[in-house]
Amino acid sequence: AQSAKESLYVVSQYAAAFFVKQLWETDEGRGIGLSYFKERGFREDILKKFEVGYSPDVWDAMTQSATNAGHKLEFLEATGLSIKNDNGKIYDRFRGRVMFPIHNFTGRIIGFGGRTLKTDKNVPKYVNSPESEIYHKSNVLYGLFHAKKAIRDLDNCYLAEGYADVLSVHQAGIENVVASSGTSLTVEQIKLIGRFTQNITILFDGDAAGIKASLRGLDMILEEGLNVKIVSFPDGHDPDSYMHHVGAGAFKTYLEENRKDFILYKANVLLKDAGNDPIKRAGIIRDIVESIAKIPDPIKASVFIRECSSLLEIDEHILLSELNKMRSVKL
Ligand code: CTP
Ligand code: MN
Ligand code: MN
Ligand code: MN
Ligand code: MN
Repeated sequence: AQSAKESLYVVSQYAAAFFVKQLWETDEGRGIGLSYFKERGFREDILKKFEVGYSPDVWDAMTQSATNAGHKLEFLEATGLSIKNDNGKIYDRFRGRVMFPIHNFTGRIIGFGGRTLKTDKNVPKYVNSPESEIYHKSNVLYGLFHAKKAIRDLDNCYLAEGYADVLSVHQAGIENVVASSGTSLTVEQIKLIGRFTQNITILFDGDAAGIKASLRGLDMILEEGLNVKIVSFPDGHDPDSYMHHVGAGAFKTYLEENRKDFILYKANVLLKDAGNDPIKRAGIIRDIVESIAKIPDPIKASVFIRECSSLLEIDEHILLSELNKMRSVKL
């Protein structure tokens, strides 16, 4: 008999195939799901490659189909695809949503993200699979299975925020892209990227109110010894909306021309914020040197000290002595 864990993979694969079939072969799926993707400008080959689907807007269509096909409810529940309510009634977690299956990096389906098609603000935009024996979201990067070869070949990994971003960047012909999908980036995710490349390029949502907060989180990547670059997008665009706005060719050029080193980007963002206030500026200098102190390679760190010295108009030796203080505190 197959192990319980294997059964979770099997029911997840069954559900993914069910959602794909709904999208392409039913009136509801084509009329609501497929036309939604088309309106957003997604090409059919991309939709097929990522095995996106549609979950019908009824109580338990997927659960019924799976159990009729002989799959055990126990395993459907264990993946969170089926839920038992207080009255013992079983229903589908995903209803009336377009479905993004999440693959592990060997290509097996381990979970789903489902996007609502409603504009109602009270409906959550995304519903995601819960943690399960096969799905640990902090260890997973959306799109890695489809991106890993390109990441290795191009020796760079673009990191976006969401499902749609990954599809659209792919559609632009850029295949070395993954997303953290709803979690803030974790050390496990960074280590996963580190198996394929030492270079990460973050594609920030332009609207990110939390750009400053996320800058701090990115220090984690430096600590892992990876090189971090940043591309930010104008006017509230995310990579997905910007790609469809300017087209594939211009999008590619934009990525090439707007790639900034993370530390220098961070210094610029913070400096703009501080204006001429000397106390704020001193705080920023400390903040930047703190980031540089996270870089394990001393030669790389010294290059950044030099660049920041001219950017911040501070004597290099002062920055170096700050750096050394912070390093000795860390040890
Ligand atoms: N997310 C989530 N739950 C939410 C909102 C977001 O899990 N309620 C995750 C999803 O993985 C989403 C990512 O965070 O893809 C980024 O969120 P957001 O920028 O709001 O969504 P988009 O990916 O831009 O989705 P869309 O373009 O379809 O609006
Ligand atoms: Mn697959
Ligand atoms: Mn966002
Ligand atoms: Mn977004
Ligand atoms: Mn978006």
